[in-house]
Amino acid sequence: MPSDAIQFENVSKEFFGIRALSGITLSMPPAQIIGIVGENGAGKSTLMNILGGIVTPDTGSMTCQGQPHKPAGPADATRAGIAFIHQELNLFGNLSIVDNLFIDGFPKIDRLGLLDKRKANQSAHQALQTVGLHCPVHTLVENLTPCEQQLVEIARAVGRNARLIILDEPTSSLTQNERDRLFSLMNTLRNAGCTLVFISHNLDEVLRMSDRIVVLRDGCLVSTGSKTEYTVERMIIDMVGRQIKNLYPPKTSVPSETILLEVSGVTRPGIIEDISFALHKGEILGLFGLMGSGRTELARILFGLDPCTAGEIVAINRPLRRHKPAESIHSGLAFVTENRRDEGLLMEASIEFNIALAALRQTAGSRSSIWVDHKAIRDKSLRVARDLRLQAADHKRQSARNLSGGNQQKLVIAKWLLTNPQILILDEPTRGIDVGAKYEIYTIMNNLAAGGAGILCISSELEELTATCDRILVMSNGRIHGDFARSEFNEKNMLHAAFKGLRTAAEPGDR
Ligand SMILES: Nc1ncnc2c1ncn2[C@@H]1O[C@H](COP(=O)(O)OP(=O)(O)OP(=O)(O)O)[C@@H](O)[C@H]1O
Ligand SMILES: [Mg+2]
Repeated sequence: MPSDAIQFENVSKEFFGIRALSGITLSMPPAQIIGIVGENGAGKSTLMNILGGIVTPDTGSMTCQGQPHKPAGPADATRAGIAFIHQELNLFGNLSIVDNLFIDGFPKIDRLGLLDKRKANQSAHQALQTVGLHCPVHTLVENLTPCEQQLVEIARAVGRNARLIILDEPTSSLTQNERDRLFSLMNTLRNAGCTLVFISHNLDEVLRMSDRIVVLRDGCLVSTGSKTEYTVERMIIDMVGRQIKNLYPPKTSVPSETILLEVSGVTRPGIIEDISFALHKGEILGLFGLMGSGRTELARILFGLDPCTAGEIVAINRPLRRHKPAESIHSGLAFVTENRRDEGLLMEASIEFNIALAALRQTAGSRSSIWVDHKAIRDKSLRVARDLRLQAADHKRQSARNLSGGNQQKLVIAKWLLTNPQILILDEPTRGIDVGAKYEIYTIMNNLAAGGAGILCISSELEELTATCDRILVMSNGRIHGDFARSEFNEKNMLHAAFKGLRTAAEPGDR
């Protein structure tokens, strides 16, 4: 009988005195897709970081294909045939595909020690063919879509003959077509004998793709078994420890006639064209579209991060012209960006500092004070963190980098909530967020709207928008192609509008 691909024996890990993993004993059979689910901070990435040699466990041991596995660093894990495709991609954008594939060392021409570029190009080409990425090996990585970059990472794993490939939330920024493409590649790799670990908050996808399921809660293994033993409901119960009947809270807010944000003819040539709409007091307005449809670009212009060449933006009766984010914040706007790592957070700063940043004006000792009231910051930071169930060991000392992916996302939201925004723009607010916390975020949106704020919510999840919004705008190719009131919500028509004006319908995710 072949030995397990991976065996964990009593693996534990603490950070700052907080248990991230407690006595995990788990085997992963070979040539299977193993889905790992759990709430934000449950320990999924930490377990994989231990396997990948990035984190050293406090106790326990591992074996990899029957051999003791005690990696001193990621290079040891690579040598043991383990490849890790992280939650945030890990490539050098300004280097070519082939340079990225051989970043650890190009093949050499034997005696001379010269780099064998020809061999490297051939191997790179072959690896790209295997993963179905048909572009020249010298293409710069920064010119690839996120999906293509992910394929390059998988190609790197394939090129190194990895026997175990860990995919940590690989689908969170992919379009449906791209997801399907990734899934068929995962099946091909599994059928070729590879073991794959698939971590995701999309439970339907985990159930569809995995052969076995592993559920973690608060650092403990709650259950594991063949996928036939699981349903999405059971996964949720095991993850959360209780049944969650409704994924969405009932809508409590009602939009009024008062307009908070009026956008007329806003244009940035080649990016967005002639965008006009109004956001009302108490309204949750959805902005649906495929990736690359111009939704994020529109949000950036509204918030003053990018300029527009024509059109008008009026926020709470105040025209915003050539405005900067500081003016937007002053006018009552807040913007939760989709790219939390690069734009949303200061990764090395503390949780408390990050929360306080956008609301320094509100947290200053007095209106004219240049001193910051640290106690006020701490109290408020703890309050919003509690509302969002942000899981952290120490708000003052723990840096944002050390939070789990989903908790980083909650931190970005917490930061903006402290500014008491009148107009809140959310870009993919629930990406990477677990089911329970999603519910909290929808509730917060509801409460803010019920309190008179207007919310513009960008999402690629149509179901999430139809459940939470009063109205949905559909963007495609930089234009608004549909405006649906709640009574007219119809997923088919909305998808149809999302594909309007595209160059090719075959690859809607391409930029
Ligand atoms: N380097 C670190 N330093 C301190 N704490 C850490 C570190 N890495 C992880 N943690 C903590 O360990 C716990 C588990 O985090 P982990 O990243 O494994 O969660 P996760 O299950 O991957 O969550 P998510 O779904 O949000 O990605 C969290 O409480 C996190 O804050
Ligand atoms: Mg994680």
